[in-house]
Amino acid sequence: MSASASGPAPHVPEKTRLGILLSGRGSNFLAIARAIAAGQLANVEIGLVLSNVAGAPGLAAAHELGLATACLVSRGRPRAEHDADVITCLRQHRVDLVCLAGYMRLLSADFIAAFPDRILNIHPSLLPAFPGLDAQMQAFDYGCTVAGCTVHFVDEHLDHGVIVLQRTVPVLDHDDAHTLAARILEQEHLAYPEAIARVVSGDYRIEARRYIPIPRP
Ligand code: GAR
Repeated sequence: MSASASGPAPHVPEKTRLGILLSGRGSNFLAIARAIAAGQLANVEIGLVLSNVAGAPGLAAAHELGLATACLVSRGRPRAEHDADVITCLRQHRVDLVCLAGYMRLLSADFIAAFPDRILNIHPSLLPAFPGLDAQMQAFDYGCTVAGCTVHFVDEHLDHGVIVLQRTVPVLDHDDAHTLAARILEQEHLAYPEAIARVVSGDYRIEARRYIPIPRP
């Protein structure tokens, strides 16, 4: 029997709303936006793109795409105060999952507690190697033969939480730190949407720092 016009509305599952935090160029944000537009992240939408830096190119790109944007400048403000404003803004936009995409700022413990196991970060190294700034150059200068990127949950330590996935990149003989960083970035753009899909699916458990996928029956 077909549903009548007066019958109950079909259940439309709510989409997971991402809050993207960035400080600069925003290429990882755009990779996520492209993955959503391509249907690769079917149950996901971007609820907010927020920057802590005025004039961040990523924020302008988000505005052009017609997404909700916010700029809360962090420079010169106490971390707790700034983070409290960011949390409020994320809540106002009903964000479920926070994605740090080149957000060059440590989060306070209060921020992490506000979104338990709901904050992801991408870092351009195979963690735990080379946390912090200029990770690609650190790997190159160290003489690594394999580099890569990591998507991980955020905890209270720098570039430290549970790893969702990593992608490797060989360091080639003719590489310099810039060519290596460019090839790592290509892999970042694949890794972040894939990691978001994994987390949004909910088909995983975490055991002793290990992300363990749970296959669907
Ligand atoms: C990316 O390479 C990202 O992995 C890195 O900043 C860049 C942002 O680029 N993040 C970190 O180093 C965090 N520790 P994007 O603005 O083009 O996405």
